[in-house]
Amino acid sequence: MAAMRAVLPGVPLVLLCFFLLCPCPCPGPLLAGGIPTTLEGPFPPVTVPLDKSFRGNAVDLPDTDRRVQRTVSDFEPEQISVSLSTSHDSVWISWITGDFQIGDNITPLDPSSLGSVVYYRASRSGRSHRATGYSLIYNQLYPFEGLKNYTSGIIHHVRLKGLKPSTLYSYQCGDPSIAMSEVYYFTTMPVTGPSSYPSRVAVVGDLGLTYNTTSTVDHMLSNHPDLVLLVGDVTYANLYLTNGTGADCYSCSFPQTPIHETYQPRWDYWGRYMQPLVSKVPIMVIEGNHEIEEQAENRTFVSYSSRFAFPSKESGSSSTFYYSFNAGGIHFLMLGAYISYDKSSDQYRWLEKDLAKVDREVTPWLVATWHPPWYSTYTAHYREAECMRVAMEDLLYSYGVDVVFNGHVHAYERSNRVYNYTLDPCGPVHITVGDGGNREKMAITHADEPGNCPDPSTTPDTYMGGFCAFNFTSGPAKGNFCWDRQPEYSAYRESSFGHGIFEVMNETHALWTWHRNQDLYKYAGDVIYIVRQPEKCPIKGKRDI
Ligand SMILES: [Fe+2]
Repeated sequence: MAAMRAVLPGVPLVLLCFFLLCPCPCPGPLLAGGIPTTLEGPFPPVTVPLDKSFRGNAVDLPDTDRRVQRTVSDFEPEQISVSLSTSHDSVWISWITGDFQIGDNITPLDPSSLGSVVYYRASRSGRSHRATGYSLIYNQLYPFEGLKNYTSGIIHHVRLKGLKPSTLYSYQCGDPSIAMSEVYYFTTMPVTGPSSYPSRVAVVGDLGLTYNTTSTVDHMLSNHPDLVLLVGDVTYANLYLTNGTGADCYSCSFPQTPIHETYQPRWDYWGRYMQPLVSKVPIMVIEGNHEIEEQAENRTFVSYSSRFAFPSKESGSSSTFYYSFNAGGIHFLMLGAYISYDKSSDQYRWLEKDLAKVDREVTPWLVATWHPPWYSTYTAHYREAECMRVAMEDLLYSYGVDVVFNGHVHAYERSNRVYNYTLDPCGPVHITVGDGGNREKMAITHADEPGNCPDPSTTPDTYMGGFCAFNFTSGPAKGNFCWDRQPEYSAYRESSFGHGIFEVMNETHALWTWHRNQDLYKYAGDVIYIVRQPEKCPIKGKRDI
């Protein structure tokens, strides 16, 4: 209780309000009279019963919705966004000029025909700066009769440098000789260090572009995030044929297509819809399976890799699939589940180097994200990423990762601290927030319920490949491929749409709240202080395992 009293003064008034007003069913610890902390864990597993009144189809925004339509002309910038570089002194500004083309005869635009320029200045300094960047286009090509090809507008990425921390900047982007954007604003991250943190980091996964997505984004905006983490599965353009016909389940509705088609304009719709949020709040994205989007010559992830700016080069990565960055005293690891992760892979070697460089005196918090969860108890995607867990969990544990954020499973779940299927006070808290609101089904059934345990041989993801379920024949999870009740590592699970807010208070305490779309904006469905214990769990150097 001493630790709880110590942190309560830092609890925002609104959180205390929703705590007091929290309607049933509340998670057990809340009824005890305070916000729980991981120090009091591990907690008995909680499953919130399915609230059927909030189900229903998640319907995609149609192309007639004004929020997805093009509102600029010719080569005026649109789909404007901000993303971070590796520290507070640099960000990326991205935008698109010129319209896409889709059809049988497409003529790619010439990216060299337009400049990529950003004018920016600290709102109070008055001195204007100019930065230039690069531009590209991408094509999504299907060499099959009757399928339409796509070529994008010109995508621009410009890196701004020399920025002051925690400072409001105004900016305009475009080509000064043709058209510049309106004035937009963003605020830089706090200085990298142990005593400054972004106020609120929104975490969301599997977002899509449905009416439920708009509810999620509205709720997220109401929480005024400083940074958005999108943990994979962005637009769900791959639930469409190239003629624009969509379905909630591609393989069910279109089983005979020669290649898994996509309708790339959905990406443009998504970029337009998101602009009001991400032109002012930086967004950091990691790839999910819906970004694979295979096309001619076996090319994959082309839209994902082209449209977003990633601090890959700045963080020593050679790939858009994995990178890292700092936000105040938090070091974020953005990891790729759909690229090699074995110990001999480039990603693993990069991760070892990146972790070795992290100084926990400077960035006490170490947060890792990737798309498919390792510790999910829902039937959907059960154990899909087991091979990735086998390959990487020891390394992440040895460096004392505090929190893991995942998506992929369309529901919410928070784990107790866990490592190798064993409750461990020094293991990370794993949080799945794949409940952003896309048009696919909500995950509802759990693998520990009678009849819902999948055959292990069917669980590996077809794209990731590999079969590592043999890990359940020995070791701490022996005989427990599926449990006969909610596993002890699963602290709280609930099938609802929503998003989370990660709010680091200081070197040891971070408040995590999960907000359900069906609740009033400031209510939280799940809330807990995640507490680091650097003395109990040494973090200087690599922890022995
Ligand atoms: Fe996914």
